[in-house]
Amino acid sequence: MNVLIVYCHPEPTSFNSTLKDTAKETFEADGHCVEISDLYAQGFDPVEKEEHYSHNRIEKDRFDLLSEQRNAYMTDSLPKEIKKEIQKIEWCDLLIFQFPLWWHQQPAILKGWFDRVFVSGGLYTSTMRYDKGYFKGKKAICSVTSGAPVTTFTKNGRGGESIEVLLRSMNFSLHYMGFTVLPPYLFGEIQNKDYTYMQPDDFTSHLKESINKWEDYLQNIHQVEPLSFCGWNDWDNNGMERKV
Ligand SMILES: Cc1cc2nc3c(=O)[nH]c(=O)nc-3n(C[C@H](O)[C@H](O)[C@H](O)COP(=O)(O)O)c2cc1C
Repeated sequence: MNVLIVYCHPEPTSFNSTLKDTAKETFEADGHCVEISDLYAQGFDPVEKEEHYSHNRIEKDRFDLLSEQRNAYMTDSLPKEIKKEIQKIEWCDLLIFQFPLWWHQQPAILKGWFDRVFVSGGLYTSTMRYDKGYFKGKKAICSVTSGAPVTTFTKNGRGGESIEVLLRSMNFSLHYMGFTVLPPYLFGEIQNKDYTYMQPDDFTSHLKESINKWEDYLQNIHQVEPLSFCGWNDWDNNGMERKV
């Protein structure tokens, strides 16, 4: 199996970095191949803008992103960092997003990766979406760390809601692109040692235990039941769920 880890953290010694390394080592030990997109280290620009298309604009007087993305895709003139990301996704069978929860969702750099990499008119069209999406047959999963404990991610809990609800839009976008989406995997109570409420020894054991559980989870990831989403056959002509 080929695994791509899209890793988003500005600090190479972070716990997120350890989780990314753990995944790489675990998969490689089982004979799988792993590639990493380290968005901060790559200096990935998450802000989609005119300059990314200035070498080959189709509409000269106004910037229409959907048209420019489609034109760049069709004329093979996408920015090279975007082509590289697309090639890596095409290569992989499993896509893991590794990131900390920031303001109850993914960090901005990762949102921008979606804006730029999932190219309109190339990787999705009006007929190539959802269960007919470009990346059909591939799996994707969000692996997320949070400061709040796992138990607080519940309806009306102080974590904000269940992690499935908080990451619903990101996961829905992955479904839109054709991926089979696995439930998010949450590591709670991950904080800098100066912020944690735990005793130092307990905190160290908590991190170690989290890593061990992650290894076990990854070794059995093929058995994980995906999230359920509606597809084309579930919708009527207005795009609303058919009533049975
Ligand atoms: C900008 C920012 C926003 C954050 N928002 C949340 C949040 O909404 N919920 C939460 O539980 N933790 C939040 N945290 C805490 C981080 O999720 C936590 O520090 C991180 O997961 C720890 O992993 P790391 O050591 O790899 O950075 C936030 C931290 C930062 C810096």
